Amino acid sequence: MFLNKYPKEVKQILSKYPLEHKRSAVMPLLYLAQREEGYITKSAMQDIAKMLDITETEVASIVGFYTLYHDEKAGKYHMQVCTDLPCALRGADEFLQNLCGNLGIKVGETTPDGLVTLEGVMCLAACDKAPMFQTQGPDGIKYHENMTVDRTMELIEALRKSNS
Ligand code: FES
Repeated sequence: MFLNKYPKEVKQILSKYPLEHKRSAVMPLLYLAQREEGYITKSAMQDIAKMLDITETEVASIVGFYTLYHDEKAGKYHMQVCTDLPCALRGADEFLQNLCGNLGIKVGETTPDGLVTLEGVMCLAACDKAPMFQTQGPDGIKYHENMTVDRTMELIEALRKSNS
């Protein structure tokens, strides 16, 4: 049970919510569950559901809705390109396709070295700065705006070097 691994953190999270609203702790608990492996396992979702007296489906729907949660093992970095309409009007789709071509992977796939998983996501609130993406990795979440494919490939190369 993942929750047994972090008793102090779990207690601290739950202490922030009144007992009758403990379900509100679902997001910080999911974040905690994701910390170790970079994704949330099915058994962690079951643990959280049981702990908060909610259904596994409710927990899974939250994981599925938010781009910051992942339910599958992926690369060390999630590179999430916004392809929502305003960004699409500024060339986001073409940017993403060119990036796929350069990396030799499709959207949703991970580079063979396990470094980057490329994803298309909805609005990241930088609509006038497309093409843009966020990276989620061990160093947190970082925004990259007004990007080109060349600059993105340089960024990936720098990540590769710093992680080798
Ligand atoms: S539509 Fe892409 S950041 Fe808002």
